[in-house]
Amino acid sequence: MSEEKKTFTFTIDGQTAEVEPGITILEASRLIGGKSVPPAMCYYKPLETSGGRCRTCLVEVSKGSEKDPRPMPKLVASCRTGVMDGMEVKNLSSEKAQEGRKAVTEFLLINHPLDCPICDQAGECHLQDLGYEHGYEQTRTEFERRTFEPEDIGPYIKLNMNRCILCARCVLAANQLTEKREHGILFRGEHAEISTGLNKALDNDFIGNVIDVCPVGALTDKTARFASRVWFTKPMNATCECTKCSGKAVVWMKGEEIIRVTARKDQYDEVQDWICNTCRFDRKDTKLWNFEGPRHIDRHSVISLNHYQKPQDEQRLLNNPDAKEISEKDEIGL
Ligand code: SF4
Ligand code: FES
Repeated sequence: MSEEKKTFTFTIDGQTAEVEPGITILEASRLIGGKSVPPAMCYYKPLETSGGRCRTCLVEVSKGSEKDPRPMPKLVASCRTGVMDGMEVKNLSSEKAQEGRKAVTEFLLINHPLDCPICDQAGECHLQDLGYEHGYEQTRTEFERRTFEPEDIGPYIKLNMNRCILCARCVLAANQLTEKREHGILFRGEHAEISTGLNKALDNDFIGNVIDVCPVGALTDKTARFASRVWFTKPMNATCECTKCSGKAVVWMKGEEIIRVTARKDQYDEVQDWICNTCRFDRKDTKLWNFEGPRHIDRHSVISLNHYQKPQDEQRLLNNPDAKEISEKDEIGL
């Protein structure tokens, strides 16, 4: 007789679903989907050991589990906390979690310049989205910001350290995707910064993916810098004959011209298929690509608007048909 598979009952903001044991609160929330999914600035599912650095994914655990229903005394990082059977979590419905996220946003912006009008990441930047939602109108900091000059860290990549939030995604991507990592986080605390080793340049195959995983505009593609605001471009799914990667990419068109090439990403802005440097930086000729059709940008962002179709799911509450729906009155600040 086959043993019945054990699942955990998990609830976030009043929506309940059965999930696999061993996954995190963030992953369980993503299975339910919708607006209750906590934002994540450092967690990145395709990168092992990512998460636990930025605290944007904080949630309140109002019931620990069926066995031990006591609430957790502090907000927890949902990307690093495992689900328990019967666990109840509050995100949008928790004033404490929203206040916590506001504080984290303020912290992340302490040194970050408000240079969205000239930043290539504007329109697809997670910190910009957080700032709109939770940021203060004015800074309360009296100290001078840390400042760095933009730096070439290889033939293709520009580092603007002023914008870096030290999420370490680029370090993990270089570790896990390339043959040899040539950069990392140097120094500690207030002095921590992203830098290459002495006389080293980021130029190995697949290193361009660090640009895609960077949640802010700290790492930008030198072949596409300042070419266009992203909302004036049209993303197209395209494929090419490539011996190094799958050759499946998104090419961003301005008129007849290819402005930039990126990997394909899902609704959480996570790369589905890593692409090689040749596809990303050297294939800017339309003759080199087979166009499959327009790319729908699923993530809620300025770029998902006005391109071919409106996102039907902007107000979507549930992805999972088995989940129970949150009532409007439970939501805070919507
Ligand atoms: S450069 Fe970007 S990806 Fe790398 S640590 Fe800084 S913010 Fe994260
Ligand atoms: S996404 Fe969880 S701590 Fe950064």
